[in-house]
Amino acid sequence: MNIAVMPGDGVGKEVVPEGLKVLKAASEKFGFKYTTKDFPHGAEHYLATGITLPEADLKELGSFDAILFGAVGADPRGNARIPQGLIETDILLKMRFELDQYINLRPTRLMPGVPTPLANIGPGDIDMIIVRENTEGLYCQNGGFLYKNTPHEVANQIEVTTRHGVERAIRYAFEYAKQYKRKKVTLVAKTNVLRYAHNLWMRAFEEVKKEYTGIETDYHHVDACTMYMVTKPKIYDVVVTTNMFGDIITDLGAAIQGGMGMAASGNLNPTRKYASMFEPVHGSAPDIAGKGYANPIATFLSVAMMLDFLNQPAAAAAINKACKDVVADKANHTRDLGGTASTSQVGDAVKKLVAS
Ligand code: NAI
Ligand code: MG
Repeated sequence: MNIAVMPGDGVGKEVVPEGLKVLKAASEKFGFKYTTKDFPHGAEHYLATGITLPEADLKELGSFDAILFGAVGADPRGNARIPQGLIETDILLKMRFELDQYINLRPTRLMPGVPTPLANIGPGDIDMIIVRENTEGLYCQNGGFLYKNTPHEVANQIEVTTRHGVERAIRYAFEYAKQYKRKKVTLVAKTNVLRYAHNLWMRAFEEVKKEYTGIETDYHHVDACTMYMVTKPKIYDVVVTTNMFGDIITDLGAAIQGGMGMAASGNLNPTRKYASMFEPVHGSAPDIAGKGYANPIATFLSVAMMLDFLNQPAAAAAINKACKDVVADKANHTRDLGGTASTSQVGDAVKKLVAS
């Protein structure tokens, strides 16, 4: 397998090398071969070169089996030299859209020993897979201004919902449930108010579910979903939702599973026409970058997702289990989890278990 590696900025440069360490241990243990090629893109690279992500690089990235990505981004406290959002839009969103990574897959699982802000909720209560539609909805920049900077200014941001886009996301959720023996798929939308776009979601859901008779189904409005994710997260198994709602509820998911350092994601092109991209959910974390205590677990879990996608389920399972066992011991907790372990200490612990 050929893997493109883009660590990006800030803590991305600290967690991705640890991820590669774990990947190497898995390849030695499970006997698969891989090559990597580094891509330097990100905010720092832009400051040095004026380049974000040229078409030729994007095209090359698309030809890999997978992309392992860290995080890109400028300092949110203000980096006047980079226009706001340029790096994120021109690199990250560009890859997601142009490589047609139409599924954003975010497992939300509370591991034993990891603190959650929820009272009376334990590891068995949070184990959901959120399938976020990743190429349509409100995020495809369909809109514009009229009379900009006048008192009569009008701004339109139009939600794009296609039968094709919705159906492939819903179908992916059911296929996932089938493959991983999950019991229930819940559609999360807002059909009572968004009566056109989300009516299309509902109709597609009703039709597709008929093909998966063994799988239970449910529907929740997104506002109710945010409440239930906090009060009774156990009711969720596989959740399928729109681009924007998925963005929001997966951050809530990250919070209840122990924070940004624990949340992994895959941006998938299930057709495999172009590379899929695997990344921790978090950003470049400028507030802790360079200190050596970023939590690398989200990156390891992303590496595991990548290996699962690349048909190495045993290696993926071994990394998942190693992460679970490592965080069960408080001595391996980084600062975000309330501990004092360093990034490389956690990396060494996971690597050792994977190799054993
Ligand atoms: P962030 O995710 O970088 O940080 C949010 C909070 O979580 C901070 O307190 C940070 O210290 C903590 N955190 C993040 N990752 C952590 C880790 N591995 N271990 C321990 N703590 C961790 O989000 P923020 O601060 O809003 O954004 C910083 C920059 O990153 C911005 O330029 C933003 O646009 C960009 N960004 C990029 C993303 C990506 O590349 N996928 C995703 C989110 C933000
Ligand atoms: Mg987000």
